[in-house]
Amino acid sequence: LASTDVNLAPVAVGQAITVVWRGKPIFVRHRTPKEIEEARGVSLSALKDPQTDAQRVQKPEWIVMIGICTHLGCVPLGQKPTDPKGDYDGWFCPCHGSMYDSSGRIRQGPAPSNLVIPPYAFTSDTQIRIG
Ligand code: FES
Repeated sequence: LASTDVNLAPVAVGQAITVVWRGKPIFVRHRTPKEIEEARGVSLSALKDPQTDAQRVQKPEWIVMIGICTHLGCVPLGQKPTDPKGDYDGWFCPCHGSMYDSSGRIRQGPAPSNLVIPPYAFTSDTQIRIG
């Protein structure tokens, strides 16, 4: 399928789901106010791949990313409640220890760049179409 529709309504604050788009895992997380605040509070000079949180989200509550580590392509942990999220309330790559923050930006470890944002659009308040 060229595009994937995702119903966000069942995803509570603090929860995440993983869907598949073009054979790739897509991470969708309903961020908490704390996660949003942390993502916004980072100075660009602290970032290896400088991007503001606003450049990476369409609505602050929702982060949508391709769930593939930009180092060597493992799938980072952080989607399940029991997963390690690294030191930045985001995602942790178990392969070589890259840590991504709650905006999916690389903060520590060998990955060269932020998790990639796929093309998507909100088709209603509670639905997105990826691709
Ligand atoms: Fe993720 Fe190497 S593949 S840190």
